[in-house]
Amino acid sequence: MAIRKVGVIGAGVMGAGIAAQVANSGTPVLLLDLVPDAAAKAVARMARQEPAPFMSKAAARLVETGGTETDLSRLAECDWVVEAIVERPDAKQALYRRLAEVLRPGTAVSSNTSTIPLAMLTAGLPEAFARGFLITHFFNPPRYMRLLEIVTGPQSDPALMASVIDFADRRMGKTIVHCKDTPGFIANRLGTYWIQLGIAEAIDAGLTVEEADAVIGRPMGIPKTGVFGLLDLVGLDLVPAVNASMARALPKTDAFHAANRDIPLISRLIEQGYTGRKGKGGFYRLNRAGGGRVKEAVDLATGEFRPERKPELPEVGRDLKRLLTAKTPAGRYAWRVLGQTLAYAISLVPEAADSPADIDTTMRLGYNWKQGPFELVDKLGAAWLAGRLREDGLAVPPFLELAAERPFYRTEAGQLECLGLDGEYHAVPRPEGVLLLADIKRTSKPLLKNASAALWDIGDGVACFEFTSKANALDEQIMTLLGKTIELVRERFRALVIHNEGTNFSLGANLGLALFAANIAAWGEIEKSVAAGQQVYQTLKYAPFPVVAAPAGMALGGGCEILLHSDAIQAHAELYAGLVEAGVGLIPGWGGCKEMLGRWKANPKLPRGPMPASAKVFELVSTAAVSKSAAEALENGILRESDGITMNRDRLLADAKARALALAKDYKPPAPYEFKLLPGASGALGMRLAAEAFQRRGIASAHDVTVAGHLAYILSGGEADPVDTVTEAQILDLERQAFMALVRTGPTLARVEHTLETGRPLRN
Ligand code: NAI
Repeated sequence: MAIRKVGVIGAGVMGAGIAAQVANSGTPVLLLDLVPDAAAKAVARMARQEPAPFMSKAAARLVETGGTETDLSRLAECDWVVEAIVERPDAKQALYRRLAEVLRPGTAVSSNTSTIPLAMLTAGLPEAFARGFLITHFFNPPRYMRLLEIVTGPQSDPALMASVIDFADRRMGKTIVHCKDTPGFIANRLGTYWIQLGIAEAIDAGLTVEEADAVIGRPMGIPKTGVFGLLDLVGLDLVPAVNASMARALPKTDAFHAANRDIPLISRLIEQGYTGRKGKGGFYRLNRAGGGRVKEAVDLATGEFRPERKPELPEVGRDLKRLLTAKTPAGRYAWRVLGQTLAYAISLVPEAADSPADIDTTMRLGYNWKQGPFELVDKLGAAWLAGRLREDGLAVPPFLELAAERPFYRTEAGQLECLGLDGEYHAVPRPEGVLLLADIKRTSKPLLKNASAALWDIGDGVACFEFTSKANALDEQIMTLLGKTIELVRERFRALVIHNEGTNFSLGANLGLALFAANIAAWGEIEKSVAAGQQVYQTLKYAPFPVVAAPAGMALGGGCEILLHSDAIQAHAELYAGLVEAGVGLIPGWGGCKEMLGRWKANPKLPRGPMPASAKVFELVSTAAVSKSAAEALENGILRESDGITMNRDRLLADAKARALALAKDYKPPAPYEFKLLPGASGALGMRLAAEAFQRRGIASAHDVTVAGHLAYILSGGEADPVDTVTEAQILDLERQAFMALVRTGPTLARVEHTLETGRPLRN
């Protein structure tokens, strides 16, 4: 069954966010709430929220709103209804009974419950309702958290479940983890246990909250918020309710009960309004008394706030095992929390999850751990962990005994395998249409490789160029390998994909190298590297094979320019792309101005004439605009209508490969742009005057105007007359000249230096 319209009930934090993500997929949604205007208010609030739940304004228009008392029957229009109301079985069941009356037969209904088992939710409901029912547990915020836990019941109709799962995967972009019908599923079961231990053991060990977070965070590959910072983020007030619900639902023998101690400090903080970042603060707060801004943390013994203290813990270094074996309070704390958490995680197979890989995926995507618990066990050694648990008189889970000296994961003939309860290794399955570069890298050797990039054979005559430098910054090595890649693909492949699995596709050119060259006045070298980049990107554009760029995350500056020189872009929906050079006092010098101008000149949405395209590119580049989604990159003209967007990041490479193969049939390189009707000197003056107007209003600085002046000169075609035809080579010359003029200025170098040091722009 195709899902053409989705209903969401409960327009709170989760329901509203889920509705937005459905709309982001281009699917209409009906959002209802018990409180009549709550849904409409939620949509209005989300339109202003940052980070934005909606990927575009068009998505926001796909959400219709209403009330459950007046509009419930309209849910008959929907193929899938998501319930996201209060976490109370009685309230949820009462709603389901009403839904059973109004929905079309064959409609799927899911609950977003975070803890209540499916069996409890469907108890006593008609069988027809149970057939369409499942649990879809989204994470907050639903747009950005990739994990979706799914629980289906014995009565669930497999075909209907498959339609919902497929929609959630391909259209909403979620990575699906199938969980057993047990309380808290996987993420909250393990997460609550871990957090509870993290708090209680810190109090027992007499550590400060800063020390505890420093131990539990980075050294374990866990976000630096650790446990106390994490609770501030999600809200302390959720703790008692979730713990009580888990305590009620879990069998008496579960290890959770031993960890679940009443912590009076938490109740006291909640009573005083310290519910976390959404309240007055939590374990950490910003004290603004007397007009100050003092960062404070709570003293775990007294409950009083005192100024934050940077922890001094020499045992917290790079080596996790050293920390876990350190005979210090921090070392013992690290072991007590991690050792027991890993043991608990292992004990959840098969009760809550079928495979270690599911638990690892859950903790990586649901809690942003770098490695899941089983991956951590492999790092430490299963035998070591078992020995240490035994030494401390803690129970050793049978699955850990079974592993004995063996790792939970291994690679066999290039295939990632995971240990099962039968004592055998089994392939970690990938859904159809999922192609991961990480998997390719396990099975093969790179075709080409240097310190900053590599080229891989991804099958069917397609090669994949991967940046491997820090932050995927572009440097000479990348340009060199790209040049060699073009030669090799021309001889042996049908198409090229440019892709990597880093958090960000590329943050742009390596500014450190540029600054170094500028500091020793190696201007010739800088100009050579600008020219070399231009040349490689041009060669890429006119190569006799198709090039598809498949970016996810940030693609900035030179990282955006490589997208612009590809035949097609297959973008992850979370693409943050832009030409940001103006922020460091430069202009795009690797063909970015040329390509953006070409794209906007061809854009039918703009009126014809000399000015509109140049003015549009001027606006985007002079303000260093960065898209907040792939949909916005399309509005900014970085993506074209013919480009593609993939919602599920795991599917990006496969989609890009398919696009590349489609283009490879009868491929012809594009014809070079010939720029006609550029506005010339008068246009440049107009744009410059606009920048000066911004300066008078205090929005732009003097150096901003200088940069804008250079940009205006390029985009108007230099000295060209509107009747002239300007070639790509001429625009590239203008880019290079402007770049070289700007890189020699003090304010530009100050900006570059500041950005390198702080990661932030300097407004000089
Ligand atoms: P919330 O309190 O922000 O929103 C609940 C909304 O449901 C409110 O707007 C309320 O007016 C409405 N509502 C209550 N009873 C209703 C009824 N009978 N009919 C129609 N509307 C009704 O709650 P939140 O945080 O969005 O949670 C919703 C569900 O999602 C809960 O089951 C919760 O356990 C679960 N969940 C929450 C997460 C979170 O981080 N907040 C994460 C994952 C799941």
